Parts: sequence; structure tokens; C-alpha cells
Amino acid sequence: MSEPIPPSLPLDERTHVLVLSGAGVSAESGLPTFRDANGLWENHPVEEVASPEGFARDPERVWRFYSERRAAAANVRPNAGHEALAALERRLGDRFLLVTQNVDGLHQRAGSQRVIELHGSLVHSRCTVCDRPPFFDPEAHAGSLPRCDRCAARGRQALLRPHIVWFGEALDPTHFDRIDEFLIHGARHGQNLFLAVGTSGLVYPAAGLVLRARAFGASTWLVNAEPAENAAAFGRFVRGQSARILPALFR
Ligand code: OAD
Repeated sequence: MSEPIPPSLPLDERTHVLVLSGAGVSAESGLPTFRDANGLWENHPVEEVASPEGFARDPERVWRFYSERRAAAANVRPNAGHEALAALERRLGDRFLLVTQNVDGLHQRAGSQRVIELHGSLVHSRCTVCDRPPFFDPEAHAGSLPRCDRCAARGRQALLRPHIVWFGEALDPTHFDRIDEFLIHGARHGQNLFLAVGTSGLVYPAAGLVLRARAFGASTWLVNAEPAENAAAFGRFVRGQSARILPALFR
């Protein structure tokens, strides 16, 4: 059952808040969610452009897709939901951690600092060959294939790729170590509260975080425009738009 009037989160000086955000949080900034677009881009399933196989087949098409997404994200602004999360972090400090499936960078632009970008970042690229760390690269590369300067300096041709976790690729396991440390610390020194917002609960491992948080004693809250696939795993469900609900929830 969802709750009609947005309640306030039960927060005190011992509460540790772990947030999982998804595409719904950026919807009111004007970025379509995955399910909004029916998982299609130019009539291709997104998996065809967001996968290592898709990149091997047609890197130009993949760069065109991500260049459009870079431009779209650069043209929108964080909304009241992103801002409420940044304000909550300023209140809680190290008792706050935000895990996002979004690659649009809007949380950071709203001021969030303790952010784990589970699926990568739209404004970073990396080399497909050398081990140079991912670097800031907000450019749209439509029409040309970007290449690695470091490899070029060594006489080697190597393509750059977006620093995004594609379908079929593994997530960085150190992210889960950091999440576990946060939950262990919260359970030891206070109590955990887990809040998922704007996510369909369809894509794992992110959709399983609610169970992980419950194993560490967290109370669990879901804020979403519709019941998420994993809604039954949550203790509380507040139905609605995150830009309206989150500021009320953190009053
Ligand atoms: P989805 O597009 O699957 O789900 C967005 C959810 O947000 C839906 O359940 C909507 O009902 C809800 N929603 C829409 N507008 C909202 C609003 N204003 N306020 C609150 N909720 C709203 O997006 P994600 O769950 O983020 O993976 O998708 C997860 C992953 O699936 C993505 O990170 C992506 C995709 O495959 C990769 O790119 C690796």
C-alpha cells in the first residue's frame, strides 16, 4: 500500500541513510527514463548500442548515442529532488551515502559528494586498450571516433569508449565493499535507513540492495511514481514524483 500524504523520514543523530536512485529522479529535469523510451533509441533496442558487442560492431553509432546523451544531460538542470538529497547529505555528513544507477551527473551538479556511480559516468571516457584511468570528457564525439592520446604518443591507435557499465559487463566490486562498510558501520553505531527512489527495481544487482540493507537492520523506504518490481521488499512506499516527495520527506 502506498501512503497518500508524504510523511517525514524518522531521522535522528544515529540514523545512517543509504539512498539508491534511478532514472526517475532525473525525469523531472527532462531526461526520459529507460522504460519511458521503451528501451529504444532510433528504433534499436538500447542493448544494441549499450553493449561491448554493439561497440565492436559499430563504434560510431555507439558514440553517436552517448554524444546525444551527453548533450541532453548538459542541457538540463538538477531538480528539487536532487537538491533535497544534497541538502540531506550536508546535514548527515558521513552518515549519508548515495548510490546511483544514473550516469547523468545531476546529483553531483546539485552538490552531492558521497556518490557511488554504479553504472559509470556519462562525462568520463576511458581507453579501450591502455590502463589509463577514466578521465573527465564531457565532449560530444558524434561524427568522429575519439582516440587515446596516450596510446597515440606510443605510436598505437586505440579507441576511447564511454566510461559506462554496458549490458553484459560486471560492476566494480569495490563499490559493493564500500556499501557494505557503510551498512556495517551504521548497524554498529546507530541504525540504518535505506531509501530507493525513482527506480523500477528490475535491474540487478542494484534491485537487490534493499535486501542487503534489511540484512543490516535497515528500515526500508521506496519513493516511486509507480510500484517498483521489488516493492514488496520495502516497509514503506510513498507513491509520487521525487521532486515533490523528497523535499517533504526530509523536512
Ligand atoms: P527505469 O527507467 O527502469 O525506471 C524508472 C522508474 O522511475 C520507473 O519505475 C518510474 O515509474 C519511476 N519514475 C518516473 N518518473 C518518476 C518521478 N518523477 N519520480 C519518481 N519516480 C519516477 O530506470 P532505472 O530503474 O534507473 O542500466 O533503470 C535501471 C537501469 O536500467 C539503468 O541504470 C540502465 C537500465 O538498463 C544501465 O544503463 C547499465
